[in-house]
Amino acid sequence: MSTEPRSDARSRKVTTRSLLQMKERGDPIAALTAYDFTTAQLLDSAGIDVILVGDSAGMVVQGLDTTVAVTLDQMLYHCTVVRRGIERALVVGDMPFMTFQVNADEALRNAGRMIKESGVEAVKLEGGSKICPTIRRIVDVGIPVMGHLGLTPQSIHKFGTYQVRATEPEEADEVRRDARALEDAGVFAIVIEKVPATLATEIAQSVRVPVIGIGAGVGCDGQILVTHDMLGLYTRFHPRFVRRYAELGKAMHAAFEHYVRDVKGREFPDKDESY
Ligand code: KIV
Repeated sequence: MSTEPRSDARSRKVTTRSLLQMKERGDPIAALTAYDFTTAQLLDSAGIDVILVGDSAGMVVQGLDTTVAVTLDQMLYHCTVVRRGIERALVVGDMPFMTFQVNADEALRNAGRMIKESGVEAVKLEGGSKICPTIRRIVDVGIPVMGHLGLTPQSIHKFGTYQVRATEPEEADEVRRDARALEDAGVFAIVIEKVPATLATEIAQSVRVPVIGIGAGVGCDGQILVTHDMLGLYTRFHPRFVRRYAELGKAMHAAFEHYVRDVKGREFPDKDESY
């Protein structure tokens, strides 16, 4: 496997503008999450269009039960190390809970820190119409914003469950309204999480900006998964929308056991591995 920069068309830097062009051409957008340099490099060389440094780091890296406790400093660290591994993909940093809800000034200052201190090219904020004035302030200074609707994990204590959202007409209407409001506020893309596929498709067809689905069916303009989920590394939950592309958790466990056996049996290191 090569991590060399490619020279074909896929090696062109992804921007918020090229994502819009992808939607217009009907080219699906492939997005995944990353939290560290090595994974970021592998994703980038595999042709991923968007890398989200998600606050899912709280769960899959830190072992917390929810994303609620993740801090701005932790996100700055993850964003900085991921950015170092990227040449082509667009890198988006997640704004953690309570870094953008208090007021627009504080949100703007924190979004500015994400961009300036870590080098990510855009930020993601969870929420709909209520945070649109804040999104406008951030977009107005030149920071691209990605929205996030449907199952927004920072609101897990309000929802009380990770079950599919917007199955009732009232909530589905709210998601429709929120998508339009986010577009009007100037977002360059919207993540839509765990809603019925028919609703996500309808929204993707009704807004100009790309809609990137997670558990939202094939009718979205792109797909995103949490990398640790699709690699079989994080196994606390296995929602049905997660397709396992590898069983790295099992492979790593077997490798670690093998190493322990080799060390205990004085099988490692051998002569060639010694000086
Ligand atoms: O934090 C995250 O990884 C996310 C994705 C689930 C979209 O927000």
